[in-house]
Amino acid sequence: MKAIILSGGKGTRLRPLTYTGAKQLVPVANKPILWYGIEDIVAAGITEIGIIISPETGGEVQAKTGKGDRFGANITYILQEEPAGLAHAVKIAQPFLGDSPFIMYLGDNLVQSDLNLFIDAFKTRQLDALTLLCEVPNPTAFGVAKIDDEGRVLALVEKPKVPPSNLALVGIYLFAPSIHEAIAHIQPSARGELEITDAIQYLIDHQQKVEARRIQGWWLDTGKKDDLLEANRVILDTCLQSSVDGDVDDKSQIIGRVSIGKQSKIINSTIRGPVIIGDNCHIENCFIGPYSSIANEVSLIEADIEHSVLLKGASIIGIHHRIVDSLIGQRAQLKEAPQRPKALRFMIGDDSKIEVM
Ligand code: G1P
Repeated sequence: MKAIILSGGKGTRLRPLTYTGAKQLVPVANKPILWYGIEDIVAAGITEIGIIISPETGGEVQAKTGKGDRFGANITYILQEEPAGLAHAVKIAQPFLGDSPFIMYLGDNLVQSDLNLFIDAFKTRQLDALTLLCEVPNPTAFGVAKIDDEGRVLALVEKPKVPPSNLALVGIYLFAPSIHEAIAHIQPSARGELEITDAIQYLIDHQQKVEARRIQGWWLDTGKKDDLLEANRVILDTCLQSSVDGDVDDKSQIIGRVSIGKQSKIINSTIRGPVIIGDNCHIENCFIGPYSSIANEVSLIEADIEHSVLLKGASIIGIHHRIVDSLIGQRAQLKEAPQRPKALRFMIGDDSKIEVM
């Protein structure tokens, strides 16, 4: 079996971060979202992985992720010139996939389930397609499935106004090579894309075997700020292990599960886990509260932070308000005004959102 991971798209819902980088590289617990998917796939014994990239962010994805050695995989990059749909991505991956069955994994999805369960079901039931489902409160935001009591898929609709169920399609699919023929027969949708839901519907309409399984653990689609913070919370809660590599002075207190990277200095501060701090950070006179992820080279002085994600090189200095539920981009600076009058001074990127008390 092979795998393709989709890592293109424009990431409009995560602007401004995605003006300068791929949404799949935004970190959750200091690791790019995309890498969780790669690790899940490798853990299921699949090492031939194709990553679909876009012209805008493909170079960055490739430079950061590499050829796959660090994951024990062999990664091939496949350029999708335009965001022409998920089924279009499969189409251009066909030379890589050949006649192998495969998993398709959307690079901004995070799931807790073990993929082996689904691979076993797919193989033993000799399916043409297996989709994963999860009950959601807002099915209109997703592809939605209608299934019978035996798990057979009766119909699929993309972002329906009137959803046939509350079962959303998780961004992980298993396909037999018969999907290529289905894709060859579908037309672009109203939004101009070749939809994978239409290709699966084609299989259903032509009496091919399409089943669905519900995932047991959590599923997170990290496309928006609050989803990303939630993903960060869940990963820190379930996966973080304590380890302290940096220097913690004797005026500081480390409470609960905390990971501190190499050459980071913690001075006169309290860190209450779960918290991850990367390498080469300077943290002085701070309180860092639960569910915070702080990337490499971040400086925090006189700051109070909780339930937030800070990207590489960010700095927060002398802000005497607690900062919560925040996502701070690479090299962004928040600091106390150096001169009078005491006022707020901003230079903020396009589409940024700031809430001031
Ligand atoms: C895509 C799929 C949708 C699925 C979702 C899961 O939507 O088209 O069927 O439910 O991923 O993340 P998108 O996130 O591209 O809007």
